[in-house]
Amino acid sequence: MTLNLGAAYRAPSSEILNALDADHALSDEVRAAGQVRARELVRRLREESKPGLMETFLAEYGLSTEEGVALMCLAEALLRVPDAETIDALIEDKIAPSEWGTHLGKSSSSLVNASTWALMLTGKVLDTDESRGIGGVLHGMVKRLGEPVIRTAVGRAMKEMGRQFVLGQTIKEAVGRTQKGYTYSYDMLGEAAMTAQDAQRYFDAYWAAIEALGKSSTAGDIRKNPGISIKLSALHPRYDELQRERVMDELIPRVRELAKLAAGHKMGLNIDAEEADRLELSLDIFDAVIRDEGVKRWGGLGMVIQAYGRRAPYAIERVAAIAKAAGEACMVRLVKGAYWDTEIKRAQVDGVEGFPVFTRKAETDAAYLMCADKLLDAVPDIYPQFATHNAQTAAAILELADAKGVARDQFEFQRLHGMGEALHHMLLSEEDTACRIYAPVGAHRDLLAYLVRRLLENGANSSFVSQILDTDVPIEAVIADPLAARRQLSNAPVREPSELFGTRRNSRGYDLRERTVQKRFLDDREKWAKHQWAAFPLSPVRMRLGKAKPVINPARPDDKVGTVQEASAEQAEMAIAAAKVWDAPVAERAAVLRKASDLFELNTPEIMALLAREAGKTALDGIAELREAVDFLRYYADEAERREVRDPAGIVTAISPWNFPLAIFTGQVAAGLAMGNAVVSKPAETTPLIAHRAVEWLYEA
Ligand code: FAD
Ligand code: 2OP
Repeated sequence: MTLNLGAAYRAPSSEILNALDADHALSDEVRAAGQVRARELVRRLREESKPGLMETFLAEYGLSTEEGVALMCLAEALLRVPDAETIDALIEDKIAPSEWGTHLGKSSSSLVNASTWALMLTGKVLDTDESRGIGGVLHGMVKRLGEPVIRTAVGRAMKEMGRQFVLGQTIKEAVGRTQKGYTYSYDMLGEAAMTAQDAQRYFDAYWAAIEALGKSSTAGDIRKNPGISIKLSALHPRYDELQRERVMDELIPRVRELAKLAAGHKMGLNIDAEEADRLELSLDIFDAVIRDEGVKRWGGLGMVIQAYGRRAPYAIERVAAIAKAAGEACMVRLVKGAYWDTEIKRAQVDGVEGFPVFTRKAETDAAYLMCADKLLDAVPDIYPQFATHNAQTAAAILELADAKGVARDQFEFQRLHGMGEALHHMLLSEEDTACRIYAPVGAHRDLLAYLVRRLLENGANSSFVSQILDTDVPIEAVIADPLAARRQLSNAPVREPSELFGTRRNSRGYDLRERTVQKRFLDDREKWAKHQWAAFPLSPVRMRLGKAKPVINPARPDDKVGTVQEASAEQAEMAIAAAKVWDAPVAERAAVLRKASDLFELNTPEIMALLAREAGKTALDGIAELREAVDFLRYYADEAERREVRDPAGIVTAISPWNFPLAIFTGQVAAGLAMGNAVVSKPAETTPLIAHRAVEWLYEA
């Protein structure tokens, strides 16, 4: 298959990397020199630099320990829990059950050890059974006295963590805390606006920040001036592929306004990369903004590209093509990507085929270097901004740039505020490269999502910042050449979406935010747009059919979906009288239910059309409903086989509601059948067609 932006979405990682390898493999000389440089950097980082409190804390309480996970959950939740009572309950839930004692005295930092003591005592106090005698009473007292204290202490600790990653609560405060020698890209905290008011508030914050920074942007050169980083999800409450038209109409003018303001001050403006399903939308917005007459000869509009994304090389090509067509230079910040856990979990839950991101860290590292090669080839049309805290990555890029003869002022390195200080100090002071710091600015209420990403990043034991502190990890492992390591399994394999539930196959999903998938899905559904269905009693007993009544689309009264002939009360009695238990071995019943689940999936377009036309379901709701029905069939098949008691109850009647006309209908019927019962089912009067088809597929199976 020829890869392009659409085709690469979830293509096998080997295909993406082999294609990159063909054009952008680093030469053996560059790789070898990069390793020498990286080894030296890592040796010095370990010897010379003193890790900060946060790094030490995360080294002890990383995500590989149960306690670390408890703390992360606590941090994630504490910032948004409004009342003291819930905070206390949360602390008890997260702190009490963990093995704090095992961390005692392990850290080289006395403060971290002291925290361990505090956490351990808190855990012991909270864990005590109060009903046991005087000791229990005493503990109870300590617990009562202790909770507000613990709450305050934990709350303070979380705020400290926030401070670590936020440069200032206001732009003025942030500018006052900058370090000499570095340039900055300010990020006004806030993302995923839920309302128009939120979006307006974030827009105002960006606007005010650019105006304030404009005063000190005197260099006349985007490379030397401060810049701004924006998140499009902050600027529109429906920043979503499924709302494309509205987003294009309403969001583009806002981004243009900010871009023009920044261009007027010769400041760079980067569009941050967020979830993978927003990539193409962000590229469209980049396209619309860079072509605007108000930003000509600026060169300061930037896109962030995530190297963990399988489409990264093609996204770079698209950016280059867009800028070329507009006759403009632009910036590209290359990052590895901060939403990895979200992408993996979302793909698994959605049951789609494959992931939009790589699943091995070395693959991401390798893609990063080969994408860096691609970007350096595009200088000076593109100004590359290499955002990394990893010494191996930085060392390889320096060698690559030197080998290509790209001057040091033709690209820059970037780091996040609160991370990678020592490495970037070396790059800045010894390598004559520019270093820019990404500096979040804002209030704690807007910090949560950003903080969670930083905790995940710092707490993961595979990350460079964590490995550099862990002297048990040999230097050779820290600097392992990703172009070689990408072929080895570097972390526990990630479960494919279809395998999410282990033995029970996950139902198949569709990501409608993937443009090619959406088109195929809607085209297939459209084939059933005029089809007429007919529903009537399906029973082994022959019945005289009643009058055919029309079934009408509840959303479009002019759309007749088909007809229904209902059973009379007497006919229902006849069906019950004729019903017989399903006298087949459990393995056979389970096999039939599984077969039916496959038939449901096979008939997805018809089911989607029926759910839309008979029940008025949107495509997303339709997919969710079909998946639930499929999962019920597979779940009850498994359950029936698992049970020791397998006697049927007899005759089961199933009466289902209209709001889940397939899922609940199928769930009730499948549960009864799985145990060998006879099932007599009555669908909701409003949605008989979909139920009729479901029963036909069950019979077919
Ligand atoms: P490393 O430790 O070498 O790499 C860690 C990264 O490897 C992880 O973050 C992840 O991307 C990847 N990874 C880890 N495990 C796996 C695995 N099993 N399979 C595949 N990949 C894996 N991120 C965004 O998403 N959007 C942005 O707009 C953005 N802007 C940034 C701006 C700046 C200036 C900086 C410095 C970072 C920005 N980031 C952004 C965050 C960035 O993605 C992370 O900081 C970066 O991934 C860390 O990489 P590293 O080279 O420092 O560390
Ligand atoms: C994030 O918000 C830095 O953009 C990156 O995680």
